[in-house]
Amino acid sequence: MASNLMASNLMIKLRTSFSNGSNKNICKYVVICTILVVYVVYMLVSSHPCCQVQPKWRRSDSKGVASATNISHLVFGIAGSSNTWRGKRGYIQAWWRPNVTRGFVFLDRPPTEHLPWPSADPPYRVSEDNSRYKEYNKHRMPFAIRMVRVIEETFKAEHGGEVRWYVMADDDTVLLMENLVGVLSKYDHTKYFYVGMNSECFVCNVVHSFGMAFGGGGYALSYPLAKAVAQNMDLCLKRYPFLYGSDLILQSCIADLGVSLTQEYGFHQVHHLLLF
Ligand SMILES: *[C@@H]1O[C@H](CO)[C@@H](O)[C@H](O)[C@H]1NC(C)=O
Ligand SMILES: *[C@@H]1O[C@H](CO)[C@@H](O)[C@H](O)[C@H]1NC(C)=O
Repeated sequence: MASNLMASNLMIKLRTSFSNGSNKNICKYVVICTILVVYVVYMLVSSHPCCQVQPKWRRSDSKGVASATNISHLVFGIAGSSNTWRGKRGYIQAWWRPNVTRGFVFLDRPPTEHLPWPSADPPYRVSEDNSRYKEYNKHRMPFAIRMVRVIEETFKAEHGGEVRWYVMADDDTVLLMENLVGVLSKYDHTKYFYVGMNSECFVCNVVHSFGMAFGGGGYALSYPLAKAVAQNMDLCLKRYPFLYGSDLILQSCIADLGVSLTQEYGFHQVHHLLLF
């Protein structure tokens, strides 16, 4: 009895509140509820980018969402030389994973030892002939042009599949693969990126540049940047015949493309303390 009364009281109250308010109020509630329902449904089913949790740059491949960067997305270009490979290959073997890591070691001439070439070592390539640059080669390091062109030759040799990054290293650079993949996966490989670090030796940075990645620690170029560098290599080499060292020539070429160094502290170029 009492609950019946309360229920009818409520109805009367509701009725009075509705009849007191104008039809405008009802319309307002209906409109607000409809908007909320539509919004919630839209958020649940929509594939619109605003509703995706993925950061913007990860949505780059054809499926809309790029997979995480892994070791197969990296290609390595190692600048080596036939005379020193015997002493240096131990550094590379420390991190090279046969049939997993992709890339090449570039030698100045065909090897005469270590033949047949072990399949556990990175496959080798002999650097292209650079005699056409002779008149431009005013470098104190005569092999600088060959070193700069490692990025171009690596790009030309391996750009199929899903390459995202080109990692350049010297023949005595030791890379920690999981860390390297982790660092590079932070960046959008579809944009122009030049990732590396300057030297731990202050004077070396003064002599070269604080904005330059020192090759001893390795550095990485995203696919589109490597492509642009490779396509502009001729122009670049002819523009900077006077710069000392391949790292500085490359940095100048990259700067001309409007890209500056993204510093990552994990790349270490260690200089011999006795020299500096
Ligand atoms: C890396 O990711 C690609 C997809 O982008 C996949 O096809 C490939 O198997 C992965 N490689 C490794 C070693 O996990
Ligand atoms: C790499 O693969 C090739 C061909 O599949 C094989 O002959 C070779 O033994 C492999 N090398 C290593 C070190 O696993």
